[in-house]
Parts: sequence; C-alpha cells; structure tokens
Amino acid sequence: MCRENKMKIKILMITWLLFICGGISMVFSYPADAGEDIVRMDTSAFDRLRRPAAVFDHDSHNEAAQIDDCAVCHHAWENGKLVPDESREDTPCSESHGLIVGVQNPMPLANAFHAQC
Ligand code: HEC
Repeated sequence: MCRENKMKIKILMITWLLFICGGISMVFSYPADAGEDIVRMDTSAFDRLRRPAAVFDHDSHNEAAQIDDCAVCHHAWENGKLVPDESREDTPCSESHGLIVGVQNPMPLANAFHAQC
C-alpha cells in the first residue's frame, strides 16, 4: 500500500475517533432532567385536532420571551375581570376556556391557545 493511502486511512481513523469521543461526551454532558420542562399542550378537550398538539420547552420559551410573570398565561378571570396577583398553574386551560364562543365564554380554548403565542 502506498504512503498516501496509509495517511488517508490514518486521517479517517482519527476523524472517526473524534466523532465517537464527541458523541460519548455529549451523552454524558446531557443533563439528567433535560426534557422535564417540555410541555405538550393539553388538547384532550377537543374531539379532533386539525394539527398535532404544540410541544414547547416551557421554561426556555418563557426565558426567551422574557416573561417572568406566570400569570401572563396562567391568569385567573372572575366575572369578566382579571384577578390581580392570582396565578393558576395547576388548572388546565380547558377548565376556564370552553370550546364554543359565547357571552359566558368570550375566549374559546383554541383562541386562547393561539392568542397567547
Ligand atoms: C407564555 C405563556 C406561559 C407562561 C408565561 C407560563 N406558562 Fe406555564 N404553561 C403554559 C402553557 C400553555 C401550559 C400548558 C397548559 C395546558 O396544556 O393546559 C403550561 C403548563 C404549565 C404547568 C403544567 C406542566 C405540565 O407538564 O403539564 C405548570 C406547572 C406551569 N405551566 C407552571 C408555570 C409557572 C410556575 C410559570 C411562571 C414561572 C409559568 N408556568 C409561566 C404557558 C405559560
């Protein structure tokens, strides 16, 4: 085998080694809790979906959007008025927003999902 070919094989092997080392270090540097704050929108209230449910990285999304106040999205309304200083993180959106628009439900669920984004 000529010298040039040996050199090519060496370079190929080194490249592979770096590739594998990179892969292994990536696996170990991946935080154990990664993915924990990925939220899949709760669309169980809908009979059928026109598109798959949105999935978003909740905390990263809010950091990027610079929204510190949870109540911007997890707000509470009573008698048509926003309740100041109240936040309802544990209540699904579908509990407050019905499917069909009406006097008692001015912001239906699909609009609530879409209007906040
Ligand atoms: C930009 C809007 C937005 C902001 C700001 C926001 N959230 Fe959320 N959060 C959502 C949406 C949308 C969901 C999914 C709700 C659903 O599917 O019914 C959610 C879900 C959650 C859930 C349920 C998680 C799960 O896995 O189902 C918790 C708990 C939560 N948020 C806490 C918080 C807290 C605490 C803050 C403030 C530090 C916050 N959120 C700020 C939009 C937001």
